[in-house]
Amino acid sequence: MTRTSRVKLVALAALALLLTVPHMALAKLKLPDASAEIAKFTGLQFTPTELVGLFLFFDTTLSEPAGQSCASCHFPGAGFDDPDNDLPVSEGVIPGLFGTRNAPTMPYVAFLPDFGPNPNPFSLTGFQGGFFWDGRAATVADQAKQPFLNPVEMNNANKDEVVLKVSKTFYAGLFEDIWGVGVFDNTETAYDKIAESIAAFEKCQMLRQFNSKYDLFLAGKAKLTPLEEEGRLLFTTNFLNNPDPANTPQANCTFCHAIPNDNSAPHLFTDNDYHNIGVPPLTPATTQDIGLGGRTDIAPPAGGSFNGLFKTPTLRNIALSGPYGHNGFFTSLKEIVHFYNTRDVPEAGWPGPDVPDPITLAPTFLMGNLGLSDNQENAIVAFLETLTDRGLKSLDRLAKHVDNMRHQDEQQNKGSGKGK
Ligand code: HEC
Ligand code: HEC
Repeated sequence: MTRTSRVKLVALAALALLLTVPHMALAKLKLPDASAEIAKFTGLQFTPTELVGLFLFFDTTLSEPAGQSCASCHFPGAGFDDPDNDLPVSEGVIPGLFGTRNAPTMPYVAFLPDFGPNPNPFSLTGFQGGFFWDGRAATVADQAKQPFLNPVEMNNANKDEVVLKVSKTFYAGLFEDIWGVGVFDNTETAYDKIAESIAAFEKCQMLRQFNSKYDLFLAGKAKLTPLEEEGRLLFTTNFLNNPDPANTPQANCTFCHAIPNDNSAPHLFTDNDYHNIGVPPLTPATTQDIGLGGRTDIAPPAGGSFNGLFKTPTLRNIALSGPYGHNGFFTSLKEIVHFYNTRDVPEAGWPGPDVPDPITLAPTFLMGNLGLSDNQENAIVAFLETLTDRGLKSLDRLAKHVDNMRHQDEQQNKGSGKGK
């Protein structure tokens, strides 16, 4: 045998070995490898549970039919909100089926309280927190259980269907490592653990980075432009803290989008309470949405009303997450700021509120006739734009990458004839 043919033989043998490699790669996804893969894109470390939650969150095979993940409506580059800014409300996996509400931004849910009694004696409702615009999911994990089964979202018929799908994913082994071998045998337990994993992801460091220009400003590491600073002053001046109302304009925003007046606690821009700011109906024909008043598990005190009340959302990453309001009525930040400024100015020509309940409608001394100039509105918008975290846009690649990991896994299984 000549030297070259020996080399050829060795090469052939190596090729044969390579061709069988898919078998070896079939070995279940290992935690360190999965972590390293995701760290490449995020530069962040995840706990095992957060990592599985991340895979669940970006997995487009968990809808019926396949094609929609949580991230489809909560896309990183859109502030974890619906990337389709032309649609006021979100489309489900079945084309043409829409919910009636706009997806709110999702980062910082880690800091939002569960639904429950409000410790603030001045609370309008006596309640605080919860998830969804009407707080009907008490906790982040409770929330995560709902989209899978919602016919206008991911459309699975029941929990069994979801659990079966998760048990066939490329990360099913990791899921068992965390929650125990056999976890898929009991639908209720498995479904709870799916939700718990997603909740862990939603609370992970990637979704609470506090690295916006505003955060750098708070830390003394960045300077706001004069316009942003003017906006900040307008935003934070309200009728309770304005020393000289006759001469100092106030936009009253922090009355509801509350922040501490120092750095002692995170600035989240919400009082966690519920208000009716008088958002108009999306079209004159849309069915009225009474928000908190539509819940059957709670009721206002005698003579009171919860109609038209919606949760005060955090304003972090708000510039990424248009359109605005629970029904997506406002297409831009400028438009909603103009609404706060002029809701009660007849010449402004706003349609009336969807729920004109006199008990709940935020009064004119708070909003609706602030007397701000066009430039002052722009200043508030400029300030809101400083609340965008750095790096969310670059996370868009993560969705694609999780898809690629799944494709690779499918190819390998096909190659080995394992099938699923
Ligand atoms: C079809 C689009 C769509 C899909 C898919 C979807 N969501 Fe949502 N999400 C929404 C909409 C719309 C709302 C607001 C609904 C409401 O308030 O009634 C919402 C609300 C939320 C909230 C509440 C945020 C807050 O501050 O109250 C969280 C958290 C959330 N979704 C997470 C998820 C998770 C986790 C998944 C996947 C299991 C998911 N979503 C799938 C559209 C979607
Ligand atoms: C009376 C309480 C209150 C005041 C005052 C208030 N807000 Fe709001 N804000 C809310 C509530 C509640 C919502 C959600 C309302 C809805 O969709 O029905 C909201 C929604 C928003 C949204 C849209 C959020 C989203 O995710 O779609 C923006 C932006 C906003 N407010 C900015 C401001 C600014 C700027 C000011 C000051 C000019 C202000 N708010 C004053 C309570 C308030």
